[in-house]
Order: sequence, then structure tokens, then C-alpha cells
Amino acid sequence: MSKTKKRYAEVGMGGRSKMYTGALLDDYKDCCELVAICDISPGRMDLANRRIKESGGAPVPTYNAGDFDTMVAESKPDVVIVTTGPDATHSDYICRAMELGCDVVTEKPMTTDEIRCRKILKTAAKTGKKLQVTFNYRYSPPRSQIKEIIDSGTIGEILSVDFAWLLDTRHGADYFRRWHRRRENSGSLLVHKATHHFDLVNWWLSDAPEEVFCHASLGYYTPATAERTGLSDRAERCKDCPAADRCKFYLDLSASENFREMYLDCENEPDGYIRDKCVFSDRIDIWDNMSVSVRYQRGTLLNYILHSYSPYEGYHIAFNGTKGRLEHHACENTYVSGDGSVPGELKKRNTSITLIPEFSQPQAIEVRTGEGGHGGGDPVLLADIFAPDPPADPLKRKAGRRDGAYSILIGVAAGKSIDTGKAVIIADLLGDAPL
Ligand SMILES: NC(=O)c1ccc[n+]([C@@H]2O[C@H](COP(=O)([O-])OP(=O)(O)OC[C@H]3O[C@@H](n4cnc5c(N)ncnc54)[C@H](O)[C@@H]3O)[C@@H](O)[C@H]2O)c1
Repeated sequence: MSKTKKRYAEVGMGGRSKMYTGALLDDYKDCCELVAICDISPGRMDLANRRIKESGGAPVPTYNAGDFDTMVAESKPDVVIVTTGPDATHSDYICRAMELGCDVVTEKPMTTDEIRCRKILKTAAKTGKKLQVTFNYRYSPPRSQIKEIIDSGTIGEILSVDFAWLLDTRHGADYFRRWHRRRENSGSLLVHKATHHFDLVNWWLSDAPEEVFCHASLGYYTPATAERTGLSDRAERCKDCPAADRCKFYLDLSASENFREMYLDCENEPDGYIRDKCVFSDRIDIWDNMSVSVRYQRGTLLNYILHSYSPYEGYHIAFNGTKGRLEHHACENTYVSGDGSVPGELKKRNTSITLIPEFSQPQAIEVRTGEGGHGGGDPVLLADIFAPDPPADPLKRKAGRRDGAYSILIGVAAGKSIDTGKAVIIADLLGDAPL
């Protein structure tokens, strides 16, 4: 007896979409079907269809962004996958898809400000549709391991957390080249990137944030750094830049087939997407140093630091509990989104978990590892989304709208705190929106 396949449509056919399209056409082709794709870029939709053909699949109908409703009416997806960038575009598709009767899987961040966030929460409550936010980090073995140790109560009640995330001068710099560099698009790295990190803390602690304060600055990706490093003759983008051979941040879009096909070849389209803008531009309005203080509902205090010009990529976190301390350090392989390498792969040698029970010696815990993007999280996440019988979920890794909301609202509150110099209450941002 042949089973009915679940029908998926995808909106936003850039770098990240490949992971979902690939899974639908390969590992999950027996239970899932990609029925349509949508974008503002005809070139990137054509490219997606060429890749589908190359992998043995049949091209799917393409729809311009303005024809999203028509796509849903004609192709009748059960689920819409939202992988658009800028992140600020997510909410319109999430809400419209639910209004048209579809469940939604969305890339992080769920959205970029509190107004869009409330709209998503209200629309989900009104329509009763499911919304999954794809927090892949939760699924990677060491991060799941941390959750298990905390849930076991070994370190007792957690009173404070110190968390520093370092983006390096390759991966970190890439956020200053394109749409992410404007707060209106990405909500800044406090939302775009830190949504992953705040979600991990919310999930690890099984708690929700209450109050947020933040200091931040933009001190490295600036015209002054370019001047200081002898790049005063730079252009607004890398292509044809006179300083290219002297600039350590030069990105050659023609050197990678993926970059060329996805971005360079599509530059003459109306959206005017330029992938290699200068990282020292005065048009950047996000921060590259951020220091956030969060108080959680049960009283735990989080000190979080994010900076984006580190010589290496990784993070350090310590949980201080009433029965001991848990430390976790990790280094990730560096990459530039879309360059063909595996994103966020853990360097096993430099990843550690140490348990220090009170009045006792440190114990090194053997770290579990996994293959694939984001520390082995991506393949497990894909199984959770697409497999007909997804693995059991005792750690509650599947994230929904509540998790999507709390993780972005910390970043949104941090942005408001920078603007006003005052602490911001999360409940004030949520208003009357149902979680
Ligand atoms: N979870 C992760 O680890 C991870 C990694 C990378 C990206 N992401 C997320 O995935 C999303 C996409 O990122 P990306 O790197 O693929 O970006 P990208 O710029 O490569 O691709 C974005 C695509 O969206 C399209 N688009 C832009 N505005 C649109 C609109 N209004 N309607 C329809 N399509 C539109 C663009 O034309 C482009 O094809 C972002 O939200 C990003 O945060 C998540």
C-alpha cells in the first residue's frame, strides 16, 4: 500500500535552503515531497531547480514572492519551510502560511522585533497551526549532553551562568558583508546570531528570561580599522576593489561555483543583492561587541558576551550551581556561509566538558560527538522534522513558537537597552500575546 507523502513548499532559496531541499530529495524522499519554491530572485529559483534535476529529481513550480498565496492554493503544501533572508521577512510568510492552513518550519531567528513576534504568536494561537523553529544546536550531541547533566541535578540549582561566544575574523566578518549588517534586516547579531545562544540557555535552564540589560559597541568593522590597516583606497565591495590584494577580508565570489551561481550571476536582478560588501563600510549599523546581562524568572543570572572578530571560533560556558560547577568549552571549524564547507563543525580535540562537584576535584566528562553541520545537530534536526516516526524526544529538543519568541526577545530587549540605557522587561515586549 503506497503511503501519502507529506507536501512541502519552501520560501527563500539562498544558502541555507539547500539543507532542506537536499533532505527532501534524498533521505526523506519516500515520505516527503517538495511541491513548490518561492523567492524574489528568479535566478536563485532556477538554480535550485537545476540542482534538483542534477540530483535526479523533477523541477518544481516556481513562484515570485508576490504570488505566495497562489503557490499555496495551487501546490497545496501541508508545511511551508521559511528560509528567507533578511530575517525580518520571516514573519509575513510564517503568518500567511498559517492563515492559509499550513504548518510552518522556520529558520532562526523566528523574527526580529517584538511587534512581528506578537503577530506570529497571535496568528499561531488563532489558526491552531504548528510552528517549528529549527534550533539545530540543541540537537548536537555535546549540547544535548549538557542538558542531560543539568537535568540530572548533579550541580544542583543553577544560580548563575557565564557564557562567551566568539565568532572569528572569517565567519564573524561575513555578517558585516550583506543584509545582516543592518539592524532593520537582522535585528543585529543580538537577534540573528545570539538567538541560537539564548535559546540554548533557556532550554538548558528550562526557564524563561525576565529582565535584560546590555552594553554594546562597534569597534572593529569600521572605517577607522581600514584606515589603520592601510586600506584607505578600498571600494564599497570586494569585486574590483583596488585594495583587494592587501585586504585580509577580501572575498572572491568568482572563486567558488556556489557563490558565483547563487549571488554573482544573480546580481542584475531587481533585489540588487550584493554578497561581498566591504566589512569596513560606514553603512554598517550593528554591533561587533555585545555584553548582555539577563535575569531569569527563577532568579538565575546570565552574563553573555558575543564578539565577532576573534582569532578563533568557539565558546566557553560555565554553570554555577548549588552543588558544583559545570564547564563546557568548544572550538568550531571556521567557514563562510555558502562556501561549501560544513558549517559549525566541532573541533573534537578542543571540545571539553568538566564537572566540578562542590568540595571535590574536576572530572573530565567524555564528550559525545556527531557528524554533520552545527556540531552534528543538522542531521538529527532533519530527522526530527521530516522522518515519519521521528526519534523519541525526552530532552524536548523540538522547539516551537514559545522558544522562538523567548530567544529573540532577549536580543530585542538588549537592543532596546542599548538605545535607552535602561533594563528592559521581557513581559513588556510580549504584551498580551499568547505563548
Ligand atoms: N540555523 C542555522 O545555522 C542557519 C545558518 C544559515 C542561515 N540561517 C538562516 O537561514 C535564513 C537564510 O539565510 P541564508 O544564508 O540562506 O541567506 P541568503 O541571503 O543566502 O538567502 C536568502 C534568500 O531569501 C530570498 N529572499 C529575500 N527576501 C525575500 C522575500 N521577501 N521573499 C522571498 N524570498 C526572499 C533571497 O532572494 C535569497 O534567495 C536566515 O534567516 C538565516 O538566519 C540559519
